[in-house]
Amino acid sequence: MIAPMAASDIPSPPLPSPSVPVFPPGFLWGVATSAHQIEGAVAAREPSVWDAFTAEPGRVKDGSTAEVACDHVARYREDVALVRDLGVDAYRFSVSWPRVLAPGGLDFYDRLVDELCAQGVRPVPTLFHWDTPLAVEEAGGWQSRDTAFRFAEYAATVVARLGDRVTRWITLNEPAEVTLLGHAIGEHAPGRKLLFDALPVAHHQLLGHGLAVRALRAAGVRDIGIANSHGPTWAASEEPADAEAADFYDVLLNRLFCDPVVLGRYPEGIGELMPSADPVEDLRIISSPVDWYGVNYYQPTLVGAPGGDSGAGTEFGGLTLPSELPFAPREITGYPVTDHGWPVVPEAFTELLVGMRERYGDRLPPIVVTENGCSHDGVSDPERIRFLDGHLRALHRAVEQGVDVRGYFVWSLMDNFEWAEGYRQHYGLVHIDYATQRRTPKASYHWLRDALAARGA
Ligand code: FCB
Repeated sequence: MIAPMAASDIPSPPLPSPSVPVFPPGFLWGVATSAHQIEGAVAAREPSVWDAFTAEPGRVKDGSTAEVACDHVARYREDVALVRDLGVDAYRFSVSWPRVLAPGGLDFYDRLVDELCAQGVRPVPTLFHWDTPLAVEEAGGWQSRDTAFRFAEYAATVVARLGDRVTRWITLNEPAEVTLLGHAIGEHAPGRKLLFDALPVAHHQLLGHGLAVRALRAAGVRDIGIANSHGPTWAASEEPADAEAADFYDVLLNRLFCDPVVLGRYPEGIGELMPSADPVEDLRIISSPVDWYGVNYYQPTLVGAPGGDSGAGTEFGGLTLPSELPFAPREITGYPVTDHGWPVVPEAFTELLVGMRERYGDRLPPIVVTENGCSHDGVSDPERIRFLDGHLRALHRAVEQGVDVRGYFVWSLMDNFEWAEGYRQHYGLVHIDYATQRRTPKASYHWLRDALAARGA
């Protein structure tokens, strides 16, 4: 098989000038982070599944922990100033459920929200970005139906405190990754290898999402979304076995998490595998209308039938995949790759959004891109500038083709603890020197700031 082309093998095009396409009025520009990846201050919160997972030898590739991370709880003012100076409208962060469980835990978010408002940046909190409290895990975690109800109670607590200043809310981040990486193949916390027995984890998170939507509505919120990860699935060939494997993967990554929210039903063949406590009422709750639908986009996936050269049971994109899977991701060649080994394919971003519009038609809520970005080391990061430029143009092409897109958030404001990769990946517009906690805006930060400032000029 042909090795993926290293970024250095491809002649570098000149750097794009700092400009962004013109999106419809009211389009929201933002940057995103998540609590566990940046906050530190672990002593002031309850433990989460990620603390326990990280403590197990071999789980995180560089052996690091998120104990200090970006020390954001202590340095949030400096970080908010960086967001403000970038010139974006909004900051997407997550509220740590284990911090909220600790006495006074909500005080930090109270201060953060005040600071954002004072600096003219709109706060956009996500209620769950993977850091399940350990106590909730020990009571069954997302494998248990009860967790959906506990999550909704927690959502009600948070909105009661912050809802006077926060108007836009995100329920969950990427329940697909929590299900597939966390519970099916064990590469993320809580590290279970349940394969298809992990499906209830998807259902319970989606139920938690729907119950949280209702709790937020009851508190008067009118601007709610979910952040799901999506990417086009490409079949490795036209052979029926490859096409079937690719369809199956598409159902697991894309449709399993979008169909129930948008259409109120599971894709064919999946519903029967879900817990059946109250299937009709559950789907009614899960499809409680959202005001917009968040898409996290990183890459397309090329998928074939298992058993090929780079079939299941191998390393793929930094993950070790078990051999029992009925599909096998293959390397995508001919594109630059990020430090994370992910192919850079802006046209797949257009394909994804146009494809969602075709699949769901008028049922699809307006789209907000809640994450998009790339891992590249260094303060000089021309690759990230090209990535952002290419993806923003691809996003604009989707708008031209009729997709209603209302916002775009870069992942991420700053380098941070990238889950099982530890500190080996660098997704930030701002570089963090972890020894000194010094923040240094990268070339891409300056590029985006200049591009946003030039809007309407
Ligand atoms: C997404 C996660 C985010 C970050 C990026 C690189 O899947 O939501 O926390 O890890 O990938």
